[in-house]
Amino acid sequence: MNDLFSKFDALIQQREQLLSGGVTDPFNLVMERVESPTVAICNGKRTILLGTYNYMGMTFDPDVIAAGKKALDEFGSGTTGSRVLNGTYGGHKAVEQALKDFYAMDHAMVFSTGYQANLGVISTIAGKDDYIVLDIDSHASIYDGCALGNAQIVPFRHNDIEALEKRLKRIPEGAGKLVVLEGVYSMLGDIAPLKEMVAVSKQNGAMVLVDEAHSMGFIGENGRGVAEAQGVIDNVDFIIGTFSKSVGTVGGFCVSNHPKFEILRLVCRPYVFTASLPPSVVATAATSIRKLMDSADKRAHLWANSQRLHAGLRQLGFTLGTDEPQSAIIAVIMPDLEKGAAMWEALLNEGLYVNLARPPATPAGMTLLRCSLCALHSDEQVGEILGMFAAAGRATGCIS
Ligand SMILES: Cc1ncc(COP(=O)(O)O)c(C=O)c1O
Repeated sequence: MNDLFSKFDALIQQREQLLSGGVTDPFNLVMERVESPTVAICNGKRTILLGTYNYMGMTFDPDVIAAGKKALDEFGSGTTGSRVLNGTYGGHKAVEQALKDFYAMDHAMVFSTGYQANLGVISTIAGKDDYIVLDIDSHASIYDGCALGNAQIVPFRHNDIEALEKRLKRIPEGAGKLVVLEGVYSMLGDIAPLKEMVAVSKQNGAMVLVDEAHSMGFIGENGRGVAEAQGVIDNVDFIIGTFSKSVGTVGGFCVSNHPKFEILRLVCRPYVFTASLPPSVVATAATSIRKLMDSADKRAHLWANSQRLHAGLRQLGFTLGTDEPQSAIIAVIMPDLEKGAAMWEALLNEGLYVNLARPPATPAGMTLLRCSLCALHSDEQVGEILGMFAAAGRATGCIS
């Protein structure tokens, strides 16, 4: 028998080698208790969370929790069905209305995750004979959406406007074209030049989809994302987002002004052939989204936190993914996986949780310690975080 698992042997070996040195498994951390959006108990120790996507700190918001509890009591623990059969409750329509109000758009469709939103929308609108032009550093859910739909895939160099234009010009006349971009790229925390890219796409007759998973709630005057911040949201055909980051629960969505958008509810397989979100989840999401509309102070504090952490880490001598802070993600570039894992563990021992990211999730084979800030990190916590980076960096020889 040919063991179908033999294709994983190299990865198994690399993992065993890493763990044989006695380091804690960075991909298997258990949070024993979560006290707030910024603090958890890990290995029995108070740990500051700097590796969640809880950008706006909504997970413990009292109104959000109350809405979830009420929906659980009134509607039960789950819908047990698809949106097109028994899975649409009042709460699903209410969260879609909250999204339409948040983005000031005509249509909103909620999926069970952001992954499924990309999978569903991309695979359904771009099929065989259509072309998808996408940034090479796109999220896995975007690539998987492309694969499911059978369109021709044309990647271009990360954030390269000229490369995008060149690829678009090579596509045969009359073919359907979809350009897929992200507002914030989550590995390095850099943003896309959407203003130029949306203009180039439109000049070349393409529709544009922007995944704003890591910018919703935070970037742009109303928290609508990078497309809003760069003044091009009206020219974007589809915005994809998630409830698992700033909204603070789970779920995904697409908003659009396309007049035929609603037909997707009948033809989009990752929407039709899966169970809808539980009533408590859509209730927490709707409450959270409405509160995010009125969160300018939190947005300002989160920017201040990002700027201070970026400047502080740089001053300590770390190499960062961007020259300036562009989002709430600050990536610290490690020389290799071994050093990255050692630094990750040293930070955990100090009482700080960050994400260790490695290829293939990262661009250019990099090992990263990804820090994502929260609007509820206090000034004191940012100071503590910098102190922990200094201590762990010196202990592991990452800085002198
Ligand atoms: C850019 C991007 N799109 C989509 C997703 C998927 O979101 P979800 O967690 O809701 O499946 C993620 C999650 O990490 C993401 O980073």
